[in-house]
Amino acid sequence: MEEPQVKDEVTEDSESLSSWVSWLRSVAPYMHAIGGQTIVIAVAGEMLAQGKLNSFIHDVSIISAMGTRIVLVYGVRPQVEALMNLKDIAPVYVDGVRVTDPEAMSCVKEAAGEVRLDIEASFSQGLPNTPMAHSHCRVISGNFVTARPLGIIDGTDFQLTGIVRKVDAEAMRRELDNHNILLISPLGFSPTGEAFNLTMEDVASSIAGALKAQKLVLLTNVDGVRRFDEVVSELTTEQAEEFIEKELVDEEDRYNLGYAIKALKQGVERVHIIPYSLDGGILAELFTHDGVGTMLTEENLESLRQATIDDVSGLIKLLEPLEKDGTLVKRPREKLEQDIGHFIVLEHDGIIYGSAALYSFPSEKVGEMAALTVHPDYQGFGDGERLFHQIEKMARKAGLTKLFVLTTRTAHWFLKRGFRAATLDDLPIEKRNFYNWQRRSQIFIKDL
Ligand SMILES: CC(C)(COP(=O)(O)OP(=O)(O)OC[C@H]1O[C@@H](n2cnc3c(N)ncnc32)[C@H](O)[C@@H]1OP(=O)(O)O)[C@@H](O)C(=O)NCCC(=O)NCCS
Repeated sequence: MEEPQVKDEVTEDSESLSSWVSWLRSVAPYMHAIGGQTIVIAVAGEMLAQGKLNSFIHDVSIISAMGTRIVLVYGVRPQVEALMNLKDIAPVYVDGVRVTDPEAMSCVKEAAGEVRLDIEASFSQGLPNTPMAHSHCRVISGNFVTARPLGIIDGTDFQLTGIVRKVDAEAMRRELDNHNILLISPLGFSPTGEAFNLTMEDVASSIAGALKAQKLVLLTNVDGVRRFDEVVSELTTEQAEEFIEKELVDEEDRYNLGYAIKALKQGVERVHIIPYSLDGGILAELFTHDGVGTMLTEENLESLRQATIDDVSGLIKLLEPLEKDGTLVKRPREKLEQDIGHFIVLEHDGIIYGSAALYSFPSEKVGEMAALTVHPDYQGFGDGERLFHQIEKMARKAGLTKLFVLTTRTAHWFLKRGFRAATLDDLPIEKRNFYNWQRRSQIFIKDL
């Protein structure tokens, strides 16, 4: 009989194992949030031409494995250019838009067919030791997009260049319900039986809007929306409109923003503009707090607000590690549920990453700030200060004249913000009676 396998000593690797476990746990909230979401991903033909297809498909298969509904729209601009070059056909552009004559159209069809087959082949991989092992991604394409000709503009007949007229959202939903990935070319078809050459961005934003997708991801050749050479990480529709109107960003960004705004106005929750040049960029954008490109939403995503009962689980996740290491006093779930009205939270994209609570002692006109916390990954950006200022504001509004805190590890943070060391006698009687002599917290107080 073969000897059963035994494990090697784990101790050596225990540090990397534990950091791996804590990394996976930190990603879990994003995984839970993304399950069931409809995500439309537009991938520029340039990315595929640069040989990045396989690693990108690996990433898409990971996102798909989390129970998302994926529509993949691809562009073919460089592939069409290459074919036209090969066939000695001169491209014609007017105001940056291609005039698609029948000869150019045959190149568009050829390029779209070839790219489609490459993507389907890539989705069919299943080699062991790759992210595609056991993936079984089924890919469906079809005539889901109806197009109409762009027409004659300022005397130029754009011929077979078209724009999206309608999307068969119902048929697409049926395929997504069946756990199929939809693969859509930048071609649309008219009731007269013609094919039209569309832009990838038009197709992707129209589909995202028709499906009321949670996310539209545009993988482009820019890093995101750039202002003063820096990528803007978040924008609201209103800000994006101002960027376009006042020409605060360059033409390429304005082009992307136009489609992003169109999608948001049709009910898409978030649009992400990210660079295709970054390996794993789509994973980093969807599963990290700051992302890698620009995220657009109708409203501001980051909010400092009153906590509600729905925040209790998020608060537990935030506070528990600090309770375990003794930084904060343990608050059982029932206590948090009872006290939720005292809490304010910082939320970003559905994740609670900061909190503070205010307990008032009106007869003594004193308040206690408790559970002031910012998730370790996001400390040092002024959020602790924001929470504190909000609590100060609330305390003043409630007519309190002093604010105190009990802390074992954060003395200097409070001293820097105008608190002074105090004694038990400075606390309201009720609090004095419950002082925990084992914790021996230091007391700091501030006049408001
Ligand atoms: C205290 C805390 C809320 C600050 O959050 P934050 O978002 O990092 O705060 P800010 O960005 O506004 O302030 C950062 C500054 O505080 C300093 N700081 C952070 N933790 C500190 C601590 N324990 N002691 C002293 N200073 C501290 C940082 O060094 C930084 O200093 P700088 O501005 O001079 O560079 C956060 O560190 C935290 O959650 N700590 C664990 C929980 C805790 O101790 N809460 C207080 C008990 S009631």
